[in-house]
Amino acid sequence: MTTLSPRFEAALSKEALAAPPSGIVEVMVHGFDKPGIVPLWAGEGDLPTPPFVADAATRSLAAGETFYTKQTGIDDLRQALAAYHDRMYGGLFGKPFSPDRFVVTNGGMHAIQLAVAAFTGPGDEVLIPTPAWPNFDGATRVRGATPVEVPMSLGNDGWVLDLDRLEAAVTPRTKLLFVNSPSNPTGWTADRATLKALLDLSRKHGFWIVADEIYGRFYYGADGPMAPSFHEIIDETDRVVFVNTFSKNWAMTGWRIGWLELPPTLVGTFVNLIQYSSSGTAVFMQRAGIAALGQGESFVAHQVERARRGVNLVADTLASTGRVRFARPDGAFYLFFAIDGEPDTRRLGLRLVDEANVGIAPGTAFGGAGAGYMRICVARGEERLRLAADRLKHWLDGSKQML
Ligand SMILES: Cc1ncc(COP(=O)(O)O)c(C=O)c1O
Repeated sequence: MTTLSPRFEAALSKEALAAPPSGIVEVMVHGFDKPGIVPLWAGEGDLPTPPFVADAATRSLAAGETFYTKQTGIDDLRQALAAYHDRMYGGLFGKPFSPDRFVVTNGGMHAIQLAVAAFTGPGDEVLIPTPAWPNFDGATRVRGATPVEVPMSLGNDGWVLDLDRLEAAVTPRTKLLFVNSPSNPTGWTADRATLKALLDLSRKHGFWIVADEIYGRFYYGADGPMAPSFHEIIDETDRVVFVNTFSKNWAMTGWRIGWLELPPTLVGTFVNLIQYSSSGTAVFMQRAGIAALGQGESFVAHQVERARRGVNLVADTLASTGRVRFARPDGAFYLFFAIDGEPDTRRLGLRLVDEANVGIAPGTAFGGAGAGYMRICVARGEERLRLAADRLKHWLDGSKQML
């Protein structure tokens, strides 16, 4: 990265300067052009968007749907989102989902930005259980608000969110709590009792919950097929905003389309925030979204099954070295593991590029509680994953002898 000249830096806002560099990008830049590398640093699969989705966008473009559009998203997509949620959750508040609850965004990240912009300003605090996807922290900082980490811990039964510790972090300035379940990077998935306890804290203290359930379909628990959701327990007075995306379920990471789901009375405010950020999402992309929601079930099932096999393959291979510690993820498509004798994971990420020809993300990117861990994305076909897992095993076995 180039360094700013002091003259230019003086012109930048405090909030812009507070935007942290991504800890994942450092490894990516280091390994991007390395011949033969297996890159597993990013949070995406290797399958291209299925043709029935892309074709819907092409048809829309050919039909001339290239004009400015409604800031909420087009009615057809909002209806398709309501119908999709009905299929997934069997309605909300005892009736079908209302299309009025949905607002289309430029990806899940934009949905997160809007939620943070709507509820926080300088001096406000945002609770983030960590390890967590770094963009929750970044989105908070660029608003001038303060991220407050609530470190989770890895116990014998997996990652644990200590609810007393969470409540102790609440102050009069707490405006938001991010709940990412299933979690990127740990795969921790809140059970219904935990979701209920979090909702009770929101009711007691008045903060809003940003429910990031984007990996809800990638769930491996026995009570599946979907991860427990706030949809099952909220009532109409609850302060919960859902952020979601087409990126993962339908292999559309590069498209930049997602959605927010929120109480309809807030839609007007969010629409204004959309006007002054993206000014709306291209109609042809929204047509693709409708195709994904309507015809995408077998594709989603295929992806989830692939990720489930990927988790097991990598987990079993790494466990056979006797040098790693992890909780088998209940959801999402990552394995988050610690290596005995390797506490400096920032440097380890770079070394694994050089010495094992595998690119994985250092846990330091996911907050203090992630520091001793590495995140590997397992949303790949068996052959690539086996190659990566075998290279890591070889490296781990070799470096053990040097300890
Ligand atoms: C937990 C989580 N939330 C939100 C997103 C945002 O997804 P996108 O902006 O690609 O739609 C990601 C992407 O990796 C994620 O891991």
